Amino acid sequence: MNILIFGPNGSGKGTQGALLMEKYGIRHIESGAVFRQHISGGTELGRKAKGYIDRGELVPDDITIPMVLDILKAQAGKGWLLDGFPRNMEQARKLHEALTQAGMKLDYVVEILLPRKTARERIMGRRLCVNNNNHPNNIFIDAIKPNGEVCRVCGGALKTRPDDQDEAAINKRHDIYYDEKNGTLAAAYYFKDLAARGETAYIELDGSRTIGEIRADLLAKLN
Ligand code: AP5
Repeated sequence: MNILIFGPNGSGKGTQGALLMEKYGIRHIESGAVFRQHISGGTELGRKAKGYIDRGELVPDDITIPMVLDILKAQAGKGWLLDGFPRNMEQARKLHEALTQAGMKLDYVVEILLPRKTARERIMGRRLCVNNNNHPNNIFIDAIKPNGEVCRVCGGALKTRPDDQDEAAINKRHDIYYDEKNGTLAAAYYFKDLAARGETAYIELDGSRTIGEIRADLLAKLN
């Protein structure tokens, strides 16, 4: 099973992605997380990417595209959930080309729809559990408020992402996402057009509901 997921930063791609990984036993390939691993490991790629990420800009295509496509190729035949890529038209075309060349079928494309203001609030309140990135914790949302200072799921320590606390950087990330001409929504619509031609299936989810409601809707639409 190969799945692509779109949604503005803070819409719950990671949160709903965890469900897809569990259901199909597939690997989560998250471009932002790959960059963060490189940054914490002090690699050359991490050093190059850090400034762009801190400012809320896209890491240049000549770094990002080969990095993601290499991981996808290594995962051929095993199934994957791709999250955070493509984010512009160039990345969308290159991904489509690579999938066609490798004979890899894209089973589903999922788009989570969410107003920009809600997405910004969710990002600023997000807290990450050191034990598991997919444990939902958010200081602004009652249903998933941390347990005091620690993770509400496992009691692990919580931390923030540096790019989550800078409002200017968040706005930049959302400018890129909501750009329907060349940005991430343009990339999503590229795949929506492919779905209209029968190349894949396209699922739209209203992201303003609770995590459980979105999850139930997603599960119903997958069958
Ligand atoms: P990346 O790591 O992809 O960050 P992002 O785009 O901000 O996406 P997130 O993973 O942060 O958000 P999410 O939608 O998964 O939300 P979550 O589930 O946590 O990218 C970081 C940077 O790397 C980019 O800015 C860029 O510089 C670079 N980069 C990455 N890919 C690139 C590419 N392809 N090209 C170039 N550069 C690239 O949910 C958010 C919060 O809301 C959480 O607290 C969660 O618990 C809560 N929540 C989720 N769902 C709900 C709900 N339904 N109700 C209430 N709360 C909810």
